[in-house]
This record gives sequence, C-alpha cells and structure tokens, in this order.
Amino acid sequence: MKHTNIFREYLKDHYYEPYTSEIKTDELKILRKELAGKLEKSSVKVWEEPVEDVELRSGDGFDFSSDTVRFGQEGDLSSEEQEKLSLALKSLMPWRKGPFNYYGREVDAEWRSHLKWDRVAPWLPDLKNKKICDIGCNNEYYMYRMLPQDPWFVLGIDPMTRYYYHHRLNKKFHRDDRLNFDLLGVDDLNLFPRFFDVVFFMGIIYHRRNPLQTLETLAGAMKPGGTLILESSGIPGDDPYCLFPEGRYMQASGYWFLPTASALVNMLNRSGFHKVEVFENFKLETHEQRQTDWAVFYSLEQFLDPNDPSKTTEGYPAPTRIYIRAVKK
Ligand SMILES: C[S@@+](CC[C@H](N)C(=O)[O-])C[C@H]1O[C@@H](n2cnc3c(N)ncnc32)[C@H](O)[C@@H]1O
Repeated sequence: MKHTNIFREYLKDHYYEPYTSEIKTDELKILRKELAGKLEKSSVKVWEEPVEDVELRSGDGFDFSSDTVRFGQEGDLSSEEQEKLSLALKSLMPWRKGPFNYYGREVDAEWRSHLKWDRVAPWLPDLKNKKICDIGCNNEYYMYRMLPQDPWFVLGIDPMTRYYYHHRLNKKFHRDDRLNFDLLGVDDLNLFPRFFDVVFFMGIIYHRRNPLQTLETLAGAMKPGGTLILESSGIPGDDPYCLFPEGRYMQASGYWFLPTASALVNMLNRSGFHKVEVFENFKLETHEQRQTDWAVFYSLEQFLDPNDPSKTTEGYPAPTRIYIRAVKK
C-alpha cells in the first residue's frame, strides 16, 4: 500500500532516538505506525491541505516570554504568504488555548492560557536541562512558554490529530529540536519508565474514567523526586468528595469525577506522590474561558445557569479550578 506524505512525515520524526536505551522503543515504534494511520483518514484533510501549503520560514523573530506566543512580524510575509497563513489559521478553529500571534495576526483563543501559566510558573522547579512531558498539550501554547527556561527535552502528547497540525504549523516558523509532539495518550506513558523530571497534567484528570490508574501511570513515567503539576476542574468544599454527574456536566458527557481539592490531594497521596501542595483553588470566571472570534462555540458563560452562575445548567456546582504541585515518591 502506498502511504500518504503526512504518514511518512510523521514516522520520519525520530525524536525518541537519543533515548532508545531508556524507553520502550520497540513498542513505541509499533504504536507510532498505528497512530500514523490516523493521519491517512480523509477527515484530516481539512487541516492538512491549508497547513501544508504554508511555506517554511527561517530567521524570523519570535517571543515566547510574554503572554502571547508570537511568531514573526506582519511585514515579514508577502501578501500571498499572509493569505496562506490566514487559511491555515482559520482551518484550525476553534482555537482553545492562546493567545498566539502569527506574523501580526492575533489569535484570541477561548482560554486566556497565560493566566494559567502565570499561576503555575512560580511553582515550577528550574526547567533548565529537564526532560518534560506536557500531557494533553493541545496547540503547544505551554510548551513554547517553557522554552525560555532552556529545558533539555519537551514532549507534548495529544491523541487528537488536529493538534498534530498545530504542531506542524508552529514548526514552519520555529524549529527547535527540544520541542516535540506525539499523538500519544496519557496511557502510553508506560513506554517511558522513570523518564521525565517534570510532568504537566492540566485540564484532563476529570475527563478520565479511571483517575487513580492514570495517576499511577504518570508516577511510573516520572523520576523519583520529579515534579508533577496537576490542574483540574473541581467542586467547592472542604471535605474529600467527588461529584460524579448522572449524565452531562457543563453540557458535555466526558466529565467523570470532579473532586474537591482535598479529594485530589488524597488521590495523589495514594498513587505514588507525596509533598502534595494545593497552590490555587478558585471558581472559574468567564474572563478566563469565553467565546471569541477564534472559538465561536459555546463556552463557560453558556454552560452556567443564567439565573444562578454558581450552578451549571444541569444544576450541579459550577466548576472550581484546582492547582497542585506534587513530588514523585
Ligand atoms: C481541556 S484540554 C486541556 C489542555 C491543556 N493541557 C490546558 O490545560 O490548557 C484537554 C486536552 O487533552 C487532550 N486529550 C484528550 N484525551 C487525551 C488522552 N487520552 N491523553 C492525553 N491528552 C488527551 C485533548 O485533546 C485536549 O487537548
């Protein structure tokens, strides 16, 4: 069978090569071949064509140290290149994380992710020379924000093929061997035993049907003494409880266990972590997650009861956001 160009491109990326003796390379290679098949589905064409059409650039300016992840300047591109870029950016809508600025074009995403980064940054260990995993990295916003701290190796994983195209678009403008993306899911981290110094696990645990198993998988992929940054949707309250919705929560079916902060602390303490510290716990507000021109679907405001925003439209407590730092035992 003749494979598509994108299938071959994905498999050409051997980011794991320097680490073959530390990770389960044979299994990873087999898995990656399977995952490459996802890129041959016709559904990816909607991103593939516009993104691949954007020309490779080098030597343009960038800034990853401010709220907006910025590539190039407006005047760097010809009008034809601007047009191609514009089509690629639009094809990747809705933009969930940001803000980004591509050659003068501001992409105002649904989430103002710099607020999350600003809360996390003071709690990070020194990232210099660290091996880092960003689980559910989405469009790589946080990975770029890590770069000024000079990490050794950053692997962003996200099983959604659309984010592979975000990665390919970003790479058109800024290629840095330290930043890598793979279509892996969190369960695949068992292929990286005791490998990472720092793991970011933000915005995912409440989407897991087996959160404890997931935490144990994370612990297995981390070096003893390594740092986990965990961020989660949760519910208010001091006692260690989880809300388990009957059906939908915030109009979505993928919410399972929504913990209080103390429940999350207990979960971590019983899954291979210690020195667990909650550093933020607050009610999520609509200035942080909202509809924009780049994310036109329903957002937080529409998920809350208009007469009582302390509740979701289903009548459950509105979400809090809990931020935790924990150390792998
Ligand atoms: C709510 S977003 C959070 C994104 C980002 N980590 C943040 O905190 O802003 C959840 C992300 O997890 C990704 N995801 C879904 N299933 C996953 C899995 N099994 N393993 C890793 N990531 C997953 C989604 O594609 C999405 O990008």
